[in-house]
Amino acid sequence: MRSLVAETVLTPSDFIAPLFIIEGTGIKEEISSMQNYYRMSIDTTVAEVKELWHLGIKSVLLFIKCKDELKDNKGTEALNPDGLMQRSIKAIKDACPGMVVMTDVALDPFSTYGHDGIVEGNQIVNDPTVEVLAQMSVSHALAGADIVAPSDMMDGRIRAIRDALESSGFTNTGIMAYSAKYASCFYGPFRDALDSAPGFGDKKTYQMDYSNRREAIKETLMDIEEGADIVMVKPAMAYLDIIREVRNVVQVPVSAYHVSGEYAMIKAATKMGWLDENKAILESLTSIKRAGADLIATYFAKAAAELLAM
Ligand code: PBG
Repeated sequence: MRSLVAETVLTPSDFIAPLFIIEGTGIKEEISSMQNYYRMSIDTTVAEVKELWHLGIKSVLLFIKCKDELKDNKGTEALNPDGLMQRSIKAIKDACPGMVVMTDVALDPFSTYGHDGIVEGNQIVNDPTVEVLAQMSVSHALAGADIVAPSDMMDGRIRAIRDALESSGFTNTGIMAYSAKYASCFYGPFRDALDSAPGFGDKKTYQMDYSNRREAIKETLMDIEEGADIVMVKPAMAYLDIIREVRNVVQVPVSAYHVSGEYAMIKAATKMGWLDENKAILESLTSIKRAGADLIATYFAKAAAELLAM
């Protein structure tokens, strides 16, 4: 009876599975602050992507761990046509053409400073960064990415990326904009995963202040105006009000990023025997969807798809 009248029903195609890719072969190494989540080499990733596809998951979001010696202050390696990201996109699209491949666009994994943009003095300079992000997006599209996902929060980057994609002939490449991305402590485990913690300062000059709600609407509407196809709110569970508010004012799909720290909290409490993991996963993801998210990026994508199949 309850299922007949349930207002919110999760399905595997709601999920975006984030993947952390490293150089090498046959590698699957656990991220210490993200129990049961792994950095994988391309071959291992491809096998994982096929499993996700069979579970009904339709999209993956790629992050790469750049070698230290390739990092600089300009994102040079981010534009390498034969870089780890570009090779990963090709390998996944070859092995599983139906999988929607989304790619992270930001400089932090490639930056000696661990910042999302180019650093001058102690500032993260907006406009020069936007130019690199646009080139990076074209490079991902050229490798076969279906959707680029700028997570950097620079101003004006959506228009610049849209223009660059259009003028390079990639009229079918989508943009999922991290529109309301808050400066959050819940990204801590992710920065361990990619070794991308900021070397100085914090990200408050470009990510949003968690005290603000109206600003999220302003940022989101600007991104849509500039050409975003999907807008995102991030993190998710401490920001359900923002997800709902955004859902109420936009006509495009809304995604929410259930981030690394939110994953780690459930994992840690489960390990202590304080929470029932499966119940915590489904209740969390259902709340995020109920708040208004059409898509949910979550490290629980596979686990939740398995639970839903039971
Ligand atoms: C960086 C980026 C971050 C995440 C996604 N892209 C971290 C940050 O902004 O410092 C966080 C994801 C997570 O915590 O799961 N551009």
